[in-house]
Amino acid sequence: MFLKRFGPYFSYLKPVRKQFALGLGFGLISAAASGAGLPFIIKFLVPLVTSDDKPQGMALILLLSSIPLAFTLRALGGFLNAYYMAYAGMHVLERLRIMVFEKIQHLPLAFFHKNNVGDLMSRVMGDTGQLQTALVKVVNSLVKEPATLVSAIGFLIYLTISESEVAFMLIALATIPACVLPIRAIGTRILKKSRQAQQQAGELNNVLNENLSAVREVRAYNLETREINRFTAAVRKLFQLALKTVKYDKMLSPLIELTTAFALSFSLYVAVQRNISPEVIASILTALYMCYEPIKKLGGVSNTIRKAQASLDRLEYVLHTDDTVPEADNPKPLTAVTGEICFNNVTFAYDNEVALNKVSAKIEPNQAIALVGPSGAGKTTFANLVPRFYDVIQGSVTLDGVDIRELSKADLRSQIALVSQESLLFSDTIANNIRLSKVDATLDEVKEAARMAHAHDFIEAFEDGYETLVGERGSRLSGGQRQRIAIARAFLKNAPIIILDEPTSALDAESEHQIQAALEGLSKGRTVLIIAHRFSTIQHADRIFVFDDGEIIANGTHTELYQSNPLYTSLYDKQAKTALSTNSEPTES
Ligand SMILES: Nc1ncnc2c1ncn2[C@@H]1O[C@H](COP(=O)(O)OP(=O)(O)OP(=O)(O)O)[C@@H](O)[C@H]1O
Ligand SMILES: [Mg+2]
Repeated sequence: MFLKRFGPYFSYLKPVRKQFALGLGFGLISAAASGAGLPFIIKFLVPLVTSDDKPQGMALILLLSSIPLAFTLRALGGFLNAYYMAYAGMHVLERLRIMVFEKIQHLPLAFFHKNNVGDLMSRVMGDTGQLQTALVKVVNSLVKEPATLVSAIGFLIYLTISESEVAFMLIALATIPACVLPIRAIGTRILKKSRQAQQQAGELNNVLNENLSAVREVRAYNLETREINRFTAAVRKLFQLALKTVKYDKMLSPLIELTTAFALSFSLYVAVQRNISPEVIASILTALYMCYEPIKKLGGVSNTIRKAQASLDRLEYVLHTDDTVPEADNPKPLTAVTGEICFNNVTFAYDNEVALNKVSAKIEPNQAIALVGPSGAGKTTFANLVPRFYDVIQGSVTLDGVDIRELSKADLRSQIALVSQESLLFSDTIANNIRLSKVDATLDEVKEAARMAHAHDFIEAFEDGYETLVGERGSRLSGGQRQRIAIARAFLKNAPIIILDEPTSALDAESEHQIQAALEGLSKGRTVLIIAHRFSTIQHADRIFVFDDGEIIANGTHTELYQSNPLYTSLYDKQAKTALSTNSEPTES
């Protein structure tokens, strides 16, 4: 059962099999020294003190040195066992975390709409730890503890043979099953509780994560109390669930001790009745005491396995998630891309909500296409289908006549430069953030791209220039600065297809105007999809697609659409009015 469930994951131990084996070996030495060594010593040393003809000189020294020797074996074996097991364990944990993280890198965007960040974090950090415990500690316990038990019981058998006190031994051994039975019953209860507690830990993570990424909103809307209450509620719930687990978990050892105590006094009663010698009683007690810890630990093993099973379920949920945007079996090679993109009768839905309904469109190479329409009409969705962030449900999207599902994702995406609606920067320098699109770019290339994106001047104005650290998610820069760095990134990539989702929304009219010019330069000889609310941006497009409620209801040039399409006309007029009233640049063509 244990092997069947966890078996495949033991391959993670392969690179550290030497350490793992060494650890187990030292565990066995320590087990033998504890289980049989110590009772033996008691049996032979007690008569030294009590008997009349005591050994003297060298003989005495040799006899006595068996004490430190046995303890050295026990201690050193125990230490090396723990050390090597920890070594193997940390290695396994590292690999498990990397494996889950790798999987997460390749999961489609849709996965992240369904699963929140806090929960995923607790899977990567917490659940991998539980699995590590199962793989390393459980195996260690399953080898070391039975070995201690066997050597202690072996000693007891040796005693029974040499002293023929069979009854005493049988009674003593009867304590063991008496302890194991209640442990099993409790284990089943713990499983349920621990599953809930893990889930709640994810929930708590999520509340915390959401709060920390919305510090501004919390203050702006006076949400502090609401947030504190939300966090307190989540913490309380975790407390209650965890407490239940603790209750059952911690009930185990007292229960075992209690049963053992009863069995012991009964055994002693039998011993007194039978006139058993003190050294035999003492060594039997030692052997029994040596059995106590293995039994306790073995009882705990089944609980650990159950907890790890719950964690493994949560990990496998991530590991076994199907890629809804799968890689083609034999991807077609992508050679010189001209940049013709076709949407053929494309339908797409997020879960059940249809976002694009039977959309057909043809984008000629080197054309600049503007996507306009009311909020929620499906513009971003349309653009996201081109780099295959999602796959269509019906119909197809083709690049140069090839269905993009037949290309490798890496090839396809290498042909597309994207500036998304919310540009995110990594916590690194400005230069490295621009370089993301071309890792081997020289500083001169980076600067050139920044110049084209009108970012060079503000970057140079920083004390550290291109080496300025942007902070987490780029928090040390303004929205407009972030956007320009994202645009510089797209310039540097120099790809034949460019997708711009409101690239200038966070810019003032002046910078927008400048970027506008730069974008026009960038667009030459490339296929461009640009989503914009500002009509100053749109007018320069070769063609405009008007989106409404998941459909392209019209397409044409600005002049054509202004005359023929009421939605376009009204969107445009509204913009022109706002532009005039805010006294920004005129929007007439
Ligand atoms: N991750 C998602 N999960 C579920 N529904 C989504 C998701 N993203 C978008 N939608 C829905 O799909 C529809 C189209 O959204 P989309 O983002 O394409 O609109 P848009 O035209 O880009 O709007 P805007 O101008 O506001 O950016 C909307 O009804 C939206 O609610
Ligand atoms: Mg959008």
